[in-house]
Order: sequence, then C-alpha cells, then structure tokens
Amino acid sequence: MRRALSLRWTLIIGIAALVAVLTTAIGLFSTVSLRDDLVARLDAQLVEATNRSFERFDSEAVKPPPGAGDEHAPAPPSGADALGIPGQRAGTIAGTVGADGEVAAAQVITEEGTLRSLAADEYAPLNDISTDGVPRTVHLDGLGSYRVIVRSPGADDVGSASALLMGLPLADADATVLRLALLIGVAGVVGVGLAIVVGTVFVRVALRPLDRIAKTAAAVSRLPLDSGAVALTMRVAGRDADASTEVGKVGGALNALLDHVAAALASRQASEAKLSRFVADASHELRTPLASIRGYAELSRRAPEKLPDSAAHTFGRIEAESVRMSRLVEDLLLLARLDEGEQLHRGPVDLTQLLTDAVGDARAAGQQHRWRLRVPSEPVIVDGDAMRLHQVVANLLSNARVHTPVGTAVTASVRAAGRVAIVEVRDLGPGIDEAIAATLFERFVRGDVARNRKTGSTGLGLAITSAIVEAHGGSIAVSSGPGSTIFTVRLPAAPAA
Ligand SMILES: Nc1ncnc2c1ncn2[C@@H]1O[C@H](COP(=O)(O)OP(=O)(O)OP(=O)(O)O)[C@@H](O)[C@H]1O
Ligand SMILES: [Mg+2]
Repeated sequence: MRRALSLRWTLIIGIAALVAVLTTAIGLFSTVSLRDDLVARLDAQLVEATNRSFERFDSEAVKPPPGAGDEHAPAPPSGADALGIPGQRAGTIAGTVGADGEVAAAQVITEEGTLRSLAADEYAPLNDISTDGVPRTVHLDGLGSYRVIVRSPGADDVGSASALLMGLPLADADATVLRLALLIGVAGVVGVGLAIVVGTVFVRVALRPLDRIAKTAAAVSRLPLDSGAVALTMRVAGRDADASTEVGKVGGALNALLDHVAAALASRQASEAKLSRFVADASHELRTPLASIRGYAELSRRAPEKLPDSAAHTFGRIEAESVRMSRLVEDLLLLARLDEGEQLHRGPVDLTQLLTDAVGDARAAGQQHRWRLRVPSEPVIVDGDAMRLHQVVANLLSNARVHTPVGTAVTASVRAAGRVAIVEVRDLGPGIDEAIAATLFERFVRGDVARNRKTGSTGLGLAITSAIVEAHGGSIAVSSGPGSTIFTVRLPAAPAA
C-alpha cells in the first residue's frame, strides 16, 4: 500500500514548491525582459551606427561616375569605411553585401582597435540576410552571437546593387543576462532551503498541539473500558481545546466525546453494580428458605411412620431439586460477588498439593474414568485464594467426568514456566459441542441442554472458573476437538520468598 504523506511533510513540501515556483517565474520573467531590453538597446545602437556610416557616406560619397545612367543606385560605404568613422566600438563588424545577397567582404574592430578582415567561412552565416534594415541575431563561429542589420543606401522600395552590413556583439548583453539568471538561481536555491528550514520549525510548532491531542487519545485507547469501574479522567489540556483555533476544535471535540463516554461508562457501571447487588441479595435471601425446604423434605422422608410410596418419592424429588437449586443459588451468589470485586482471601497456595487432592476427589466421584496426575516433585506456589482455586480445578475435573463417556482417560497436570504456573486438564472425550465453543465461558452456556438438565448441570461452572482465574490475574484457554479437550489455566507464580 502507498504510504500517505504526513500533514507536516505535505505542508513543508507545499511551501518549498511554492517558493521554487515563484522564484522560477520571477527569474524567467526578469531575465527574459532584461534580455529583450538589452537587445532593443543594442538594436538602437546598431541603427545609430549604420546611420552614422550612411551620414558620413552622404557627405563624403564619391558621386556616381559621370555618364553612368540613373539606373545606377548609389553604392553604400564599404565595411572598412563604416568601421573607420569615430564612435564605433570594439567587436563591431561591417561588410559589403553584393546584389546577389552574398557578403563580399567583412571586417571586425579588434580589441586593440585595429581592423581585421574576416575569412569567408567566418562570415558565411551572414550571407542571404534580408536588406530590410531589421536587426537579426546571427551566430558567428569564433566571434559569438551578433545583432546584424543589412541596409541598402536607396529608399526602401528602390533595390540597390549592394548594401552595408553591420553587426554588434551580443556577448555583453548575454553575460549580463547570465549573471542575473545565476543570481536569481542562487537566491532561489537559498530561498527554497530557508523555506524548508523555517517551514519545518513553523509546522512543527503549529502541529504540536495535534500531537498532544493524539497522545491523549492514544492513552484513552489503552484503557480497558469493557468492564468494571473505569476512571476515564484523561482530557485534552485547556490550551489545546480552545475553540477559536482549528486544532483547538479537534481537542474540544475529543474532550466532549470523552465526557460523553465517561458518563456512559459511569452509568453502565452503576447499572451493572445494581444488578450484581440485586442478584447477590436475592441469592442470599433464597439460601435460608431453600435450606428449610430441603430440611423439611428430608425430615418428612425419614419420618418414623411409614409414608406411602408416592409420598416418599415426592419428598425425595423435593429434596433433590432443592439441593440442585441451592447449588444454583450458591453459584449465582459467588458470581455476583466476584462481579462486585469481592476480596480474595489471598495466601500462598501449593498447586501441586491442591491438584493431588482434587484428582483424589474426582477419582472417588468417577470411578469408571481413568484418572492420571502429573505433578512435579517440588511444590508450585501461587499467591491466591485456596478455596477458590480448588473450585477452579474441581470444576474442570467435574466437566471432564460429566461430559465424557465412562472409561475416558483424564490427565491433570501442573508445572511452573518462568513467572507463570500452568494447570492443565486434558480428557480424551468427544470434545466440546461446536455450537457453544465461542461462548463457552459465558453464563448459562451448556451443550446438549436436554441431557444436561437431567444431570443437573446449569452452565455456570466455566463462567465461575474463568471469573476466579481472572480475579487472580490469570487466564484460561481451551482447545478442543474429537478425542481431546484441553483446558489450560495460567496463574502468575508467587514471587520467590
Ligand atoms: N471436558 C469437556 N468435554 C466436553 N464438553 C465439555 C467439557 N467441559 C465443558 N463442556 C461443555 O461446556 C458446557 C459448559 O460447561 P460448564 O461447566 O460451564 O457448565 P456445565 O458443566 O454444563 O454446568 P455446571 O458446571 O454449572 O454444573 C457443558 O455443558 C458441556 O457441554
Ligand atoms: Mg461444569
């Protein structure tokens, strides 16, 4: 994927590009207009120089030889004549152009002020220039670029046999233009560099509040907001939430959003707490009447006087169901208390011993399963609530017994791996019903409802297990398939004494 350009770089590149385009445009405009100006001035000098020559010619001209017909147009001064008059500067060239448009001869004023005749191949580019008296640019090998004019002495409409060619060098004008172009180029480069440096500083300062806002948002995004009491106290600082600036508007909007979320979280927390409280209170209140029902049912069943069979059966059912209901109520009460953040009775717990005891109990309860225990010789100690951790292991072992056919092998193991203690309960049973795999640790989730109702299962076992593990700062995971189900509990190991 193409990486998006950051706002910072977009702005800096934009500023630099703007400066570059502006200096280029100004440079182009000024060099072009300067050159036009210089060339125009040169042209004026050229015209003046030819005028001077023609004036001189007019005063000194050799009149056409007597007898020559009127058809003879006046002859122009020769190149040497034109260059010989005072006021012509070094580098000026002059020559005679014949009637055929070819240059007959040409001279140049050297730097020393003497005249030098040009060789034919030097003035070759001057051939065939129109005699219209309009200056043109011609490049002469060895001499450089020239503005050249060719004028015949007659009126414009009277063709002349020969014409005077004069040229002034463009070298000075070109050097001036080049100097200006170089100057603007250097100024442009320096300007772009300055724009980048100053722009970087400016943009960084201008965007700093945005960075601070992003930091606040990132800090909030790291908070666990999904459950329990959340103190959402982070806010964008007042100076970054000033609605009169664009960035301040973003900061203000983020603060408003955070206020809103904090209020929503507080009300969620309040209603969750209320619900937990209610369930805890209700469960607590139900315990006593349930115990009474169970007691009375047991009393009646064991009454010395013989009851009719149907009544004995009824009392037996009442007793069994009230036992089941008591268990359910105890589970609900425990979950509600864990939800309320009940304090655990923490202390060092030896998981090796705990697992050994729990597997012993499971062996007694499920004699037709094959139980295996794998524990290290040294104790694995965690800091936790022994009774609750026992419940975790007992729930997993009871699941491995209740939800697998008789004869299934179940292996319980514990080991320490660095700073975690890992308890694993593995059975070779049919695996967990796929329909409930995603919600396995949620409340009242159980597979094969019809069968489980008969076995008295409620679907709270794993919910309690994971709540206890989480209260200990640990985690529980499951991997299951036909022939193997593994529950893995990770608990932080107690720091070495
Ligand atoms: N080892 C296992 N093998 C196959 N399925 C299992 C195993 N452990 C759990 N399950 C499935 O997960 C469901 C949820 O288990 P959980 O312990 O939460 O409830 P329960 O055992 O049905 O009821 P409770 O534990 O409250 O008596 C079970 O109903 C069962 O379908
Ligand atoms: Mg269970």
